[in-house]
Amino acid sequence: MCGYGRLGNELYKLGYKNISGVDMGNFEFIPEKKLFNFYNADFYSWKPMILYDCCYSLYNSYSNYKAFIDTINRCNLILKENGVLIIDIFNKEWRDRIPDSSYRVVKEDDNEKVELFRYYDGKYERSIYRVSTADVTKEFSYLQCVITKEKLLDIIPNGWNVTITDSSVENTRDDNQKHILILRKKG
Ligand SMILES: C[S@@+](CC[C@H](N)C(=O)[O-])C[C@H]1O[C@@H](n2cnc3c(N)ncnc32)[C@H](O)[C@@H]1O
Repeated sequence: MCGYGRLGNELYKLGYKNISGVDMGNFEFIPEKKLFNFYNADFYSWKPMILYDCCYSLYNSYSNYKAFIDTINRCNLILKENGVLIIDIFNKEWRDRIPDSSYRVVKEDDNEKVELFRYYDGKYERSIYRVSTADVTKEFSYLQCVITKEKLLDIIPNGWNVTITDSSVENTRDDNQKHILILRKKG
């Protein structure tokens, strides 16, 4: 879920030195060094040796609400009392405003072409990456759910003090693509 360390490395540079990141992929093909403790594991079964002050799951996608709730519940288990979880999820109001389907060429050079197709049905968006070389074409796809603010507030499990904000308010984007939840674990 931490990917190759894009966000973890920035947190380290900001002065946070006791950082752990978990991801199922190992990203050996990305040369960037991870400046934090990296665990190559499934987050949902990962058992850390310590409890944390803060957890984040940002720029991840959830194929359904259950996966999102499972992530919140799993973070609850690895946080200290009063610990904070920051987690984001796609905002349905934002997704409804843009075209249901889209296509773009992500990359094209002499060796490889990468195309991205997106399809949205009001509940889920499917993204399909098509990677073509002279010899072979492969496709990778994933599904992500979107959610309204009202529904989001409705499904957050008990046991948290909840603050809800979004990517335009926090200036992480110039639009409200993401709901951002700041959840403090109740003591
Ligand atoms: C869209 S990437 C985002 C990575 C990171 N949050 C970032 O912003 O750079 C999603 C990541 O989740 C990881 N992932 C998906 N399911 C996982 C699981 N059950 N346990 C650990 N990592 C998982 C994938 O390997 C992938 O690196």
